[in-house]
Amino acid sequence: MDRLKGKVALVTGGAMGIGEAICRLMAAEGARVAVTDLDDERGEAVAVAILARGGQAAYWHLDVSDEAQVRRVFSEVRQRFGPVTVLVNNAGIAGPNKPTHELSVEEFERVQAVNVRGVFLGTKHVVAQMREAGGGSIVNLSSIYGLVSAPDVPPYHASKGAVRMMTKTDALLYAADRIRVNSVHPGFIWTPMVDGFLKTQVDPVAAKAATAALHPLGHMGEADDIGWACVYLASEESKFVTGSELVVDGGYTC
Ligand code: NAI
Repeated sequence: MDRLKGKVALVTGGAMGIGEAICRLMAAEGARVAVTDLDDERGEAVAVAILARGGQAAYWHLDVSDEAQVRRVFSEVRQRFGPVTVLVNNAGIAGPNKPTHELSVEEFERVQAVNVRGVFLGTKHVVAQMREAGGGSIVNLSSIYGLVSAPDVPPYHASKGAVRMMTKTDALLYAADRIRVNSVHPGFIWTPMVDGFLKTQVDPVAAKAATAALHPLGHMGEADDIGWACVYLASEESKFVTGSELVVDGGYTC
């Protein structure tokens, strides 16, 4: 119940899917949660649902690829809740399912802008607040595709590999500030992102079954499986864990 009591958690992409689970579970564990997203209706609903359960939360519109917005929203969250001590860089988009030679520069760079620049900007603008608080935990959503590849969505694989290494560098840079930085590597998790990806396949039903079968546990994960991993990395239970890769994939990468 109180694993995150006293912490201020800012979650990007918190309106749905994995981000919604992270917000809900962190609030249930006692954190004050800043839910941020592009989707205002669903983001507001996540904050309202937390308040209805007796938790503490508020919603902010935030495009993680826009530095001016990141600077302003992080400052407003600090004013409302106090210094951010948990940042979950969760917002992400999947790349176009095309081979490299068919991708435009714009398609490639759009994915990097959200998945890589977004993690960079979040980290850049939270360090001062975490130093002020005497430490903190940054959790970056990478993917199994930051560890192994597949012949699809090349910009996405590139971005998630980058997130893995940004995590390790930032873990080294900020260890002396007691700021821990870790990456989480989900297998396929049933969310709007995966639903959208499978719908692009020739036979979505067969693709869903085939995707589930890639996981030795025999099924895709749930958003809460990743939410709990993030709660652990945000909590003091992981106080000696930094620069690590927490793989939550039903055995996919074994
Ligand atoms: P989702 O598509 O279901 O939800 C992503 C959320 O991010 C949405 O609420 C969306 O509005 C928001 N978002 C998109 N662009 C944004 C931007 N520029 N600024 C702020 N918010 C933005 O995605 P899902 O599946 O919940 O994924 C969450 C994270 O987990 C992503 O980083 C994804 O790459 C990663 N991941 C997901 C896996 C899965 O199987 N679902 C597997 C491995 C990693």
